[in-house]
Amino acid sequence: MPVFRSFAKINLHLEVLGRRPDGFHELRTVFQSVSLHDRITLERTAAAIELEVRGEPVPGDRTNLAWRAAEAFLERWGDGGVAMRLDKRIPVGGGLGGGSSNAATVLLALRGLFGEPAAPEELVETAAALGSDVPYFLVGGTALGTGRGERVTALPDLVEERLWIVDPGVRVSTREVFAAGPFARSVPDDERIERLRRGETRRPSEVLGRNDLESRVLRRYPQVEAVYTALVQSGVERVGVTGSGAAVCAFAGRLDECPLNALASSGVRCFDVTTLSRRSIASRQTVDSVEGP
Ligand code: C5P
Repeated sequence: MPVFRSFAKINLHLEVLGRRPDGFHELRTVFQSVSLHDRITLERTAAAIELEVRGEPVPGDRTNLAWRAAEAFLERWGDGGVAMRLDKRIPVGGGLGGGSSNAATVLLALRGLFGEPAAPEELVETAAALGSDVPYFLVGGTALGTGRGERVTALPDLVEERLWIVDPGVRVSTREVFAAGPFARSVPDDERIERLRRGETRRPSEVLGRNDLESRVLRRYPQVEAVYTALVQSGVERVGVTGSGAAVCAFAGRLDECPLNALASSGVRCFDVTTLSRRSIASRQTVDSVEGP
């Protein structure tokens, strides 16, 4: 039975361009896949949706996006049911897109299991209805997200680079971060995006530098601020909150070990990962067993 890897993302860049009449915010963001991942096993069954979860504490019911992705797929394209097992390692409420990635992985896996009945654009539509970040995970690698984040264009692949993802041990609500007061007038950063489009940027760490949600996350969540400050003070070259947080990414520079490992007892966790190109994702999408690397 195939096991699917469901990779996390970071946002290398995030501009909030304004609030829309539907309550969402207009964004321009650069997504980047990273090697941190969950695993999902799926099997067709006669009826119903089943979801068993191991690892990080997330519900195994209809509130889980993987469950809702299976439901949406079966309503539109399938008959019968599906039994899923989710091995969860991506921290929850970290701005790492774990739930959205799981949903996209379930859609792609079911399309394979049911003989590809869904046209690519129909799958994108179903993904966007599940959440703003879900369509990105159908594309992966380095990609530009516009609209509420759901309109995705692949950007040229960058080299793969090592970084730490630090989970400060708190969960951040994306909705709350967006709702915490009006945003300052946004100055567009066209040059950074155009360089990426033209393939002139080589490394993900060159892109990291702007996240319009960062200051409000740092202000509202002292645990995130403490991690951020400790990383900057220890000499890490590029540090940034990913998406709406709580996770902080840090391109390690010359340090061998995450300077926050000593804080592990206070709930801070350091994940040593690499960024992934679309080509790497394609070659690593499935594994033979749940226990393997
Ligand atoms: O689309 P998703 O369910 O991931 O979004 C969670 C919440 O974050 C939304 O309900 C909305 O309050 C906020 N959000 C936003 N603008 C976006 C994306 C999310 O205001 N572009």
